Amino acid sequence: MNGPVPRPGVLAIEPYQGGKSKDTSYVGKMSSNEAALGPSPKALEAYAKAAAVTHRYPDGGAHLLREAIARRHDVEIDRIVCGCGSDELLQLLCRGYAGPGDEVVYSEHGFLIYPIAATACGATPVAAKDDGYTVSVDSMLKCIGDRTKIVFIANPNNPTGTYIPRAELERLHAGLPPHVVLVIDAAYAEFVTDPDYDSGQELASWAPNVVMTRTFSKIYGLAALRVGWAYGAPAIIDVLNRLRGPFNVPTPAQAAAVAALEDREFFDKALAHNTRWRDWLFQRLGGLGLHVVPSAGNFLLIDFGSAAGAHAADEYLRDKGWYLRRMDSYGFKDHLRLTVGTENENRGVTDVLAAFMETARV
Ligand SMILES: Cc1ncc(COP(=O)(O)O)c(C=O)c1O
Repeated sequence: MNGPVPRPGVLAIEPYQGGKSKDTSYVGKMSSNEAALGPSPKALEAYAKAAAVTHRYPDGGAHLLREAIARRHDVEIDRIVCGCGSDELLQLLCRGYAGPGDEVVYSEHGFLIYPIAATACGATPVAAKDDGYTVSVDSMLKCIGDRTKIVFIANPNNPTGTYIPRAELERLHAGLPPHVVLVIDAAYAEFVTDPDYDSGQELASWAPNVVMTRTFSKIYGLAALRVGWAYGAPAIIDVLNRLRGPFNVPTPAQAAAVAALEDREFFDKALAHNTRWRDWLFQRLGGLGLHVVPSAGNFLLIDFGSAAGAHAADEYLRDKGWYLRRMDSYGFKDHLRLTVGTENENRGVTDVLAAFMETARV
């Protein structure tokens, strides 16, 4: 071969397959853990207003946004960095701390970006066995060795929806050597209502090797604008600031995110909607004879009992315009993941699933 050759390992990466998004002919798109109620109208207003200054570069330091985050979460602004989605920050953490010969530990059924990001920078991803559907702190700690540079944990985890409580998170951190960066990916933190949950903010406020990542793509409904942030040890934030693009978050995205943070009324409505309909879906799907994993996020993992069952359900739903997420790439061939939708979507998709279960029984 004469053409350019990428670095070793790059072609070993399985490109990330997102939930269906190009096709807009669906009846219900419940495949990407997007916000059921969309964004706050105030965020859209701010976005439109900021469009008038598209000829100017954005504020590379995202000061107003970091100020708004610091106010809302009661954290120090200097410990925050914003990213082009939290995805950018997860990738940069790998670039900053891991390379060839290093290991990056993540949980067996954890978010797929972790092994992709690790492989992309030449490091070796190491999957720690889960305990059923839940992250096992013991098995994660068993995977730690001299070569470990980063441990990723999504809490709550995507695609299982389960979380480990504050005490377990602290036990994980306490078991790590100080040279290992603990990345607590709290993309779904806003949806959790359980009192024993901690987003990782507490550890990230003092531990020199902890960083928490957050996103505006989920409860705030700004997935298309790509805004995320990280909070943690100043030395880690410094590394991210050195590696990130100088203008990584566009002005309208920053403005929309500030307005979304300040619209508490809309936030409360989105949270109440998710809690109500997540419970409703859990009950309704259970009533259809399906096993559903209890979830703290805005989605549910549904077990169809076999890969053939899950694929048949997916085909049946797709045929009628309903998109769920296949889980083969996460090692859950028997499952589909369903994002909480609007009331109409939740009722509609479960009616179609009820009809599918009838055909499966015949
Ligand atoms: C666990 C987890 N972390 C991070 C992300 C990425 O979010 P963002 O849109 O901020 O890049 C997702 C998106 O689905 C996710 O599920």
